[in-house]
Amino acid sequence: MPRIAYVNGRYVNHSDAAVHIEDRGYQFADGVYEVCEVRHGVIVDLTRHLDRLNRSLSELRIAWPMTRSALILVIRETLRRNHVRNGLFYLQVTRGVARRDHVFPPAGTPSSIVVTAKSTDQSVIAKKNASGIKAITVRDNRWDRVDIKSVGLLPNAMARQQAKEAGAQEAIYIDHHGMVKEGAATNVWIVDHDGNLVTRPAEHGILRGITRTTLMDVAAKLGVTIVERFFSVEEMMEAREVFITAATSICFPVVSIDGETIANGHPGSMSQKIREAFFDVAEKTAI
Ligand code: PDD
Repeated sequence: MPRIAYVNGRYVNHSDAAVHIEDRGYQFADGVYEVCEVRHGVIVDLTRHLDRLNRSLSELRIAWPMTRSALILVIRETLRRNHVRNGLFYLQVTRGVARRDHVFPPAGTPSSIVVTAKSTDQSVIAKKNASGIKAITVRDNRWDRVDIKSVGLLPNAMARQQAKEAGAQEAIYIDHHGMVKEGAATNVWIVDHDGNLVTRPAEHGILRGITRTTLMDVAAKLGVTIVERFFSVEEMMEAREVFITAATSICFPVVSIDGETIANGHPGSMSQKIREAFFDVAEKTAI
């Protein structure tokens, strides 16, 4: 089946899709993105993802490429053209095309927009949920505006590669005080010895994940207490459970970190309970 991408006003074959060589996303990583899950034929948490897109754009003073309602039409059309029922869409907005110069291009330069969509293999996700994943810890070497979902992901890509070479699937960033931050593309959670769900406050050098926010609604429904506080690597290693969240994976149990087994080495019950309740609680938008 041909894949279709939306690029600056046109639906094109994925293999022919291209942006200009002087797009500022290409030259300066001057852009932002969103990744949003599609499950059972509906878009999950679209409003929150577009609200965060709006925040990322305004923090960087990049103009919306079109109205919000027009963008929703484009997203739905891209999903339809790619026949996605279980998968994701990716959208990227950059400051547009201009002669290379660090300062912003002249006012009125249109932003660039790309939307792609793909189906994901549900059996791969199910396998990771059943067996859990491995992680490594790495020192955070990113800029201090990681609250913006910027396309400048080189440190994240380096960290994920390091994880892969260590036989793991995620790298968990640690701050200068030995406290856990987040994964290279996920938020990190533990279940502490009181049975509370613990995650780092989003105001302190992490991305405010949409899955993280919706998970808080899920926990409230399940009667689970969430505590937003700092926690150390040592506490994580001794936690009852560790798991990671992102729109691409909802929540994957972590059963080994830096080669050490977490709890009994099997996925815990909390992440499973949350995963099962998540879709009911999340916002669902028809394609
Ligand atoms: N990553 N932290 C980082 C650094 C991330 O890149 C992501 C998402 C998250 C989780 O956010 P959300 O729940 O909104 O997906 C946390 C996306 C999926 C990616 O880069 O592919």
